[in-house]
Amino acid sequence: MSDGPRPLSPGIESAPAHVAIIMDGNGRWAQMRGLPRQEGHRRGLEALRRTVRNAGDLGIRVLTLYSFSTENWRRPKAEVSFLLGLLRRFVENDLAELHEAGVRVRIIGSRADLAPDLRLLIERAESMTAGNQGLTLVVAFNYGSRDELARAARALAADAAAGRLDPQAIDEDMLAARLDTVGLPEPDLVIRTSGETRISNFLLWQAAYAEFVFTPVLWPDFDRKALEEAVAEFHRRERRFGGVTEPTACNVGVA
Ligand code: FPP
Repeated sequence: MSDGPRPLSPGIESAPAHVAIIMDGNGRWAQMRGLPRQEGHRRGLEALRRTVRNAGDLGIRVLTLYSFSTENWRRPKAEVSFLLGLLRRFVENDLAELHEAGVRVRIIGSRADLAPDLRLLIERAESMTAGNQGLTLVVAFNYGSRDELARAARALAADAAAGRLDPQAIDEDMLAARLDTVGLPEPDLVIRTSGETRISNFLLWQAAYAEFVFTPVLWPDFDRKALEEAVAEFHRRERRFGGVTEPTACNVGVA
């Protein structure tokens, strides 16, 4: 999938380890061209494939893509089944190539409402690529942070009720260990396309200290340049994780 690392563009010294993207604007992209929304999603899948390649080239270790939210079931039935079909097509058609490129696939979100054959496909994609050492591609499908947190709370409550856990001992690590993202690093950078500036129930726990970049680019147009611009913007930010900036030779004694 990648021809090996390419030189990074000026302004990009290194890539953030984990980039998460809210892929928005497929519908508007299609509408602006007088095309059905489905065509926007189809082109969105092409942008997704392109972004997986570009992320690998830039040295990003984990790429999380928000492809269907727990709220997206409210869309017209035809659009929902088209999006479910796109996920099926993506897993069926791209899995071999992703595996070959060393990509490890993880799917986060609730599996309870998914058709058994789709659940099997997802499980196969995860088990087949589990030992890969390249980019980790996390597809958030039927994902919503509140749902994920509620499921984690239910798991903690069940353990407590069964006497396996003292409720007083519950801490942040125990909750994080019951989230779908267990074992993954927290996102450093969250990008949302299409000019919207909402988080829309995406990685609410995990993105506590992420940097957010909002770009007007509609998702089907998201390309290497747009990804590099977001990474360059990330590097212009100062991350303090709730602390203060360490005094350095440059800022000590400066008013
Ligand atoms: C948001 O655009 C996009 C989605 C809800 C779906 C994202 C899906 C893809 C990128 C295609 C790949 C899909 C899978 C499942 C692998 P929107 O429709 O809300 O756009 P709008 O806000 O302009 O209407």
